[in-house]
Amino acid sequence: MDSPRPAPAADRPIEIAPSVLPADFSRLGDEVTALAKAGVDRIQWDVMDGRFVPNLTFGPDVIAACRPHVTVPFEAHLMVEEPDQLMDRYVDAGCELLLVHAESTRHLHRSLGKVRELGARAGVALNPATPAEAVANVLDLCSMVLVMTVNPGFGGQDYIATMEPKITQIRRMIVDGGHDCDLEVDGGIGPATVAAAARAGANVLVAGSALYRDPQGLEHAVAELRELATATR
Ligand code: DX5
Repeated sequence: MDSPRPAPAADRPIEIAPSVLPADFSRLGDEVTALAKAGVDRIQWDVMDGRFVPNLTFGPDVIAACRPHVTVPFEAHLMVEEPDQLMDRYVDAGCELLLVHAESTRHLHRSLGKVRELGARAGVALNPATPAEAVANVLDLCSMVLVMTVNPGFGGQDYIATMEPKITQIRRMIVDGGHDCDLEVDGGIGPATVAAAARAGANVLVAGSALYRDPQGLEHAVAELRELATATR
């Protein structure tokens, strides 16, 4: 298959969205405050149920407890089986966007419609093995497509560069369809990989480990990722 023609992403602003997975869970209020001060555009909560992925993380009450500390938008990355059963609680907790995995629901179109009925923006997430075509018939419902560049469940994994043609293909689908939709990548994003992901067509970059391991601190890490991604424009 020929590589898809690159599509312009320049009309979509570069956004840096930290994952709080590497944060100190005993101080999450302080941690989200530090992220907001570091200049992030939104905060991603990696919601894991121990079934869809082999890890267990944040319930809605944890997110609700952090909501009053900052004003930056929250998004919930629902790495859960049967997301329809839980999604209302994450909207009530203060998440303005819910990311539903295409692999986690038998009726993706209906699940995304339910997110919108709850008053949140809807996004669809794709695991590495799931082809771009999986979103072809739901882009009209989506404000965001998330292309996973690791197999979900844990932070600190290596970036899967073979996802770049899929990123470009989905960016082309968004542009050709005239959809008002961001393209997010998540997994192994850091100074060495962010430019390639942005060049492929991503405009929202999720990073966890790369932010927290920067010896110069969160603000430097956020600014560096933004600069490297923007330089590809
Ligand atoms: C995987 C998680 C991670 C996390 C970011 O399920 O979704 O991708 O957000 O992890 P890093 O940036 O450490 O790869």
